[in-house]
Amino acid sequence: MNSDFWKNRRVFLTGHTGFKGSWTSLWLQSMGAELTGYSLAPNTEPALFDVAGVANGMTSIIGDICDLKSLSAAMQAARPEVVIHMAAQPLVRESYADPVGTYASNVMGTVNVLESVRQTPGVRSVVVVTSDKCYLNREWHWAYREDSELGGEDPYSNSKACSELVAYSYRKSFFHPAKYAEHGVALATGRAGNVIGGGDWAKDRLVPDALAALKAGNPLVLRHPHATRPWQHVLEPIYGYLALAESLATEGADHAEAWNFGPYEFSDRTVGWIVDKLCDLWGLAVPKQQDTGPIPHEAGYLKVDSSKARAVLGWAPKLDLDTTLRWIVEWTRVHHTGGDARAETLSQIQRFMDLPHWQPSSAC
Ligand SMILES: NC(=O)c1ccc[n+]([C@@H]2O[C@H](COP(=O)([O-])OP(=O)(O)OC[C@H]3O[C@@H](n4cnc5c(N)ncnc54)[C@H](O)[C@@H]3O)[C@@H](O)[C@H]2O)c1
Repeated sequence: MNSDFWKNRRVFLTGHTGFKGSWTSLWLQSMGAELTGYSLAPNTEPALFDVAGVANGMTSIIGDICDLKSLSAAMQAARPEVVIHMAAQPLVRESYADPVGTYASNVMGTVNVLESVRQTPGVRSVVVVTSDKCYLNREWHWAYREDSELGGEDPYSNSKACSELVAYSYRKSFFHPAKYAEHGVALATGRAGNVIGGGDWAKDRLVPDALAALKAGNPLVLRHPHATRPWQHVLEPIYGYLALAESLATEGADHAEAWNFGPYEFSDRTVGWIVDKLCDLWGLAVPKQQDTGPIPHEAGYLKVDSSKARAVLGWAPKLDLDTTLRWIVEWTRVHHTGGDARAETLSQIQRFMDLPHWQPSSAC
């Protein structure tokens, strides 16, 4: 990724008030991008968007992607060259509680973003953020490649598969790579899995729940303590989305397709292992309890094969899991002790940019 590419680049980001969106906004700000964000107001208290002062250094618009008129007007006013679409209802449990709202934001919201791109001259590069959950999960050990079958049982996962199909249709119907010279828009999707990092206060996510229990000295209630998941720092897929957006803008439609951005399999660990490691790093233990309440179905082990992104985009993970967890604890301590969360976030972004790719062979 070339940070000079982003200097003064006009970027339109949906979902900038969320967890990934706040890290992305600060990263883009640090590279000098002219950034406009469009999202609902933060829905957690606290929120990274507020504690890191993300709105300082960008144009922040509070709006609904279900409102095509207002979204399109905001995008046209911003005149972006790059559009990154992250806004979504991202929680599986919430999608069971509100399937209609989840499909409205995640599917029609994606239609509205792509329709707004059609109405906005000058856009060259569009990245739609979906999820590893867009794949039909066969509950097996092999990783899913970009050409694996889409699926998703719960409404969230299914809505992400639908948003992949929406992006596919817009690419074939309006932004066809073969007609790139006519329309000038390259549209791709990015599929990543569970991310962790400082400043996540979302409901029902392991690391925020574990850190909250540690800080309060409460027991930690776990739904699936023995479940193995691939874990990655939030900066890893963002690095992928930005590298992809840059390549779409500089190389045209050659990369206008779907891309996986997952961790190496060395980052697969059980939920219980992650909790124990966080306790070690924090310096306190937390009693673990099994959740005895009703647990809606959630897909089990799911892994994506990112060899295409490594071979073609030159993207690769940079942090091993120990470093990832250490950075999260460092970030949380800064916030916990009243330190400067914006400065810590920017410092971790800079450290990440300065790191070489992680070589698993040397880590084994
Ligand atoms: N966090 C993860 O582990 C993870 C994993 C895979 C994919 N993703 C995807 O990454 C993206 C960002 O997720 P996140 O973890 O930062 O979630 P988040 O809940 O922290 O942020 C979601 C953002 O979307 C915005 N939003 C939601 N509905 C909206 C609407 N109708 N109109 C305008 N804005 C709306 C919110 O205001 C917020 O800014 C999502 O597309 C999510 O599906 C996240």
